[in-house]
Amino acid sequence: MNRQTSFTLSENDIPKQWYNINGDSPVPPAPVLHPVTKQPVTPDFLTALFPMPLIEQEISQERYIDIPEEIREVYKLYRPTPLIRAHRLEKALGTPAHIYYKYEGTSPAGSHKINTAIAQAYYNKKTGVKSLTTETGAGQWGSALSIACSFYNLALDVYMVKCSYQQKPYRRIMMETYGANCYASPTDRTDCGRSFLADDPDCPGSLGIAISEAVEVALKSNGQIKYSLGSVLHHVLIHQSVIGEEALKQMAMADEYPDVVIGCVGGGSNFAGIAMPFLRENLRNGMKTRLVAVEPTAAPTLTRGLYTFDYGDTGHMTPVVKMHTLGHTFIPAPIHAGGLRYHGMAPTISSLYDAGYLDAVALPQLRAFQAGRLFAQSEGILPAPESNHAICAAIDEALEAKEKDEKRVILFNLSGHGHFDLAAYEAFMNNKMIDAPMSEEYIGTISSRVPEIDMQAVMA
Ligand SMILES: Cc1ncc(COP(=O)(O)O)c(C=O)c1O
Repeated sequence: MNRQTSFTLSENDIPKQWYNINGDSPVPPAPVLHPVTKQPVTPDFLTALFPMPLIEQEISQERYIDIPEEIREVYKLYRPTPLIRAHRLEKALGTPAHIYYKYEGTSPAGSHKINTAIAQAYYNKKTGVKSLTTETGAGQWGSALSIACSFYNLALDVYMVKCSYQQKPYRRIMMETYGANCYASPTDRTDCGRSFLADDPDCPGSLGIAISEAVEVALKSNGQIKYSLGSVLHHVLIHQSVIGEEALKQMAMADEYPDVVIGCVGGGSNFAGIAMPFLRENLRNGMKTRLVAVEPTAAPTLTRGLYTFDYGDTGHMTPVVKMHTLGHTFIPAPIHAGGLRYHGMAPTISSLYDAGYLDAVALPQLRAFQAGRLFAQSEGILPAPESNHAICAAIDEALEAKEKDEKRVILFNLSGHGHFDLAAYEAFMNNKMIDAPMSEEYIGTISSRVPEIDMQAVMA
């Protein structure tokens, strides 16, 4: 038996350009509105938060953006990442489907997040910035940016959602080891943190609140501190395209092409990273790959949320963008996939989903962990709780192929490992984990939780 399992590229295959779906997308981007005036944002609002090269990428219509050689040099520490054929999982499922996964957990941070962290730290450094703030949910993003900031000698303050801060002390220690400061959000360090604590001293926090704190610090710093976001924004999605570009080459090495590409979605960046280069092939070269975003039933942004204008954060500090949203005041159930608990979704993913170019499915965390454990037992890698959602959807596809007795080529993004998430696995194995699907009652209230926007005034 001579069957290939791992498809590895050389350093020369690290992409030289990021792919920007906005250069091909049939769906024009909606305007981005100022949080107070609700008029299209002006560059000066954005320059208070981000360095100019990232703002230019955010609005770019160029299909390809050159990756600076200095960034490719750092990518060489862990890229190209492997593409692996899950022979052993296929056998465990008894499926005729071929399952492949792109493994981003080989990075020093343990997930895909470092692909954009390196780029963001690089452009901030290059434009003279000395200090960054950010938020983190599960701690993956905070760890990734801590590493990148230590490479570029930038100071970093991380506002970590309080329930994750308590669930995952080792993520905090990891960030501190790289030199970052990490605070349990809401904190008493910011006006908006103090106001949330005044309302509820035991507030478990949310990504929306942690974003408000980090943005407030940057906005009040007189240009001394910039803000960095690990998902949702278009430039983040662009940076993650290295995943899909490599996967295209690796699928060619395997002499196969995926019928379906799957990724979990929090803000949408790892899914976009693997899926957008395949969407380009659908749009330009007549391929017909289904692109499936997987979210938790506890935060079903695409499948149950509204597609409308909403704030990116709870404290009204960020621009108002058109996206699938559960309402910016949403406080999610403390499910273990902390990175999937955001109330919104990347506007790019939202508009493509709304226009029918992408599919989405919501899965409960217990099924996701069952799938993750089966994956660990057959493939050996212990996945991040977020990634378990993608694995579960891939297994569902493989079992459906078995039922229909059809060959199906499935590719999913294994966005990270779960070595810091063992408490979640323990809760799962001891039957202490529960599902927390969003209630119908809550869904009925979303329209009252988003700002009213006068579109005629915006367009005037
Ligand atoms: C391992 C992992 N996968 C997925 C996600 C979800 O984020 P995104 O949708 O931006 O990829 C996160 C976020 O923290 C994560 O840590």
